[in-house]
Amino acid sequence: MDKFLITGPCKIKGQVSISGSKNAALPILASTLLFDKPVIIKNLPRVRDIDTMLNLLESLGSKIQFSKNKKIVKIYKTKKQKYFGSYSILKTMRAGILILGPLISKYHKSICSFPGGCVLNGNSGRPVNLHLNALKKIGMKYEIKKGYIHAKSNGKLKGTTIKFPKISVGATEQLIMSAVLAKGKTILKNSAIEPEIKDLTNFLKSAGANIKWIGKRTCQIIGVDTLSQTTYSVMGDRIETGTFCVAATLAKGNLIIRNFNPNVIQTELNILKKIGAKIKTSKDKIHIQGPQKIKSIRNITTREYDGFPTDLQPQFMVLLCKANGISSITENIFQGRFIHVMELQRLGAKITIKDSTAIIEGNVNLSGSEVMSSDLRASAALVLAGIVSKGKTIISRIYHLDRGYEKIENKLKKIGVKIKRLS
Ligand code: EPZ
Repeated sequence: MDKFLITGPCKIKGQVSISGSKNAALPILASTLLFDKPVIIKNLPRVRDIDTMLNLLESLGSKIQFSKNKKIVKIYKTKKQKYFGSYSILKTMRAGILILGPLISKYHKSICSFPGGCVLNGNSGRPVNLHLNALKKIGMKYEIKKGYIHAKSNGKLKGTTIKFPKISVGATEQLIMSAVLAKGKTILKNSAIEPEIKDLTNFLKSAGANIKWIGKRTCQIIGVDTLSQTTYSVMGDRIETGTFCVAATLAKGNLIIRNFNPNVIQTELNILKKIGAKIKTSKDKIHIQGPQKIKSIRNITTREYDGFPTDLQPQFMVLLCKANGISSITENIFQGRFIHVMELQRLGAKITIKDSTAIIEGNVNLSGSEVMSSDLRASAALVLAGIVSKGKTIISRIYHLDRGYEKIENKLKKIGVKIKRLS
């Protein structure tokens, strides 16, 4: 298993180009199951979760054709459509469950394994009850047998009004995709409004879907008979962008971040400004300079968009270890998302957890050590910590990082980080 060796502390300077968003591309790829005509998707990030989704589509009978650099795919149907989402593929990635709604909507049947994915929610796992309950409301019937969801519908799904009892990114995506070919009008209330969801709806609209946001969290979908051929470019990855912004702020860096619309991450940029970063933005560029002294901050709280994202919580925690006082971060989305704290403590971080709040002591000297990745964003936090730790940090299990960050070591090397992949 590959490891990263980082020799710190490192200076950060230069330019980095942001890849396509993994979390936007995954539902877009799943929704290609709704099409009869070919679809071309551009700006795909070359990360493992995308390969997993493409393998899943192939296992369902889709034909995948790559461009030379593999960032553009053409996806089209074969005559051998299948309806079986196997455990062997779905256990590795939670977003695999997003094939369920499209299969039921288009073909009215599916047998789909319960998904796996990053362990973020302590002992409560990562349930799919919100997906299943909402799909039931638009006409899906299902039984659970031996870890598989056996689902079907009597012909087309039927539009209705659904109010999600809790905001969920995945359940919102699942229902938008399912409603696009349903009979009549579906209204989704209390929907998630993450930019990746807007990217999914923009993609579907480019193929003729009738989708309108009629309130901040209310989405209206009027079913159409078919979707037409389309070409679509996936938005930039806001979590990758946020991770590089933290790197620059942490390491007193001077970084230009390209290919990303800064308006999407205003909440994060405002926090970085408050703690001392100098930030200039233009249409698709962020110029960020880290301060000599990082200011501490209380009460960063993770929330659904347009609040502060849980997927940047571990990275910001590293930043606050270097602030000039005590800071705190409260995690509201996933109960168990503090596994990285133990590993950061190995490097010298002083963090205590009280319920869902982490209290972070600033001004600590981090020093290199051996640490282990536990999930995707926790791994990114360890890389950031390695950048400002004195000496050698060895991070094992970096396959977590490979799931969601495209060529991260190449991008980091180019801006001055001494990082090496040990195979
Ligand atoms: C998406 O996961 C993202 N994944 C996650 O990114 C991200 O952390 C999360 O949204 C929150 O922003 C993708 O987009 C592929 P949720 P998702 O449903 O859809 C509970 C990363 O690092 N819940 O919004 O799984 C759930 O347990 C990943 O890139 C239920 O109770 O998140 C959580 O507490 C990790 N029942 C909360 O809702 C359900 O049926 C929000 O989860 C579904 C969710």
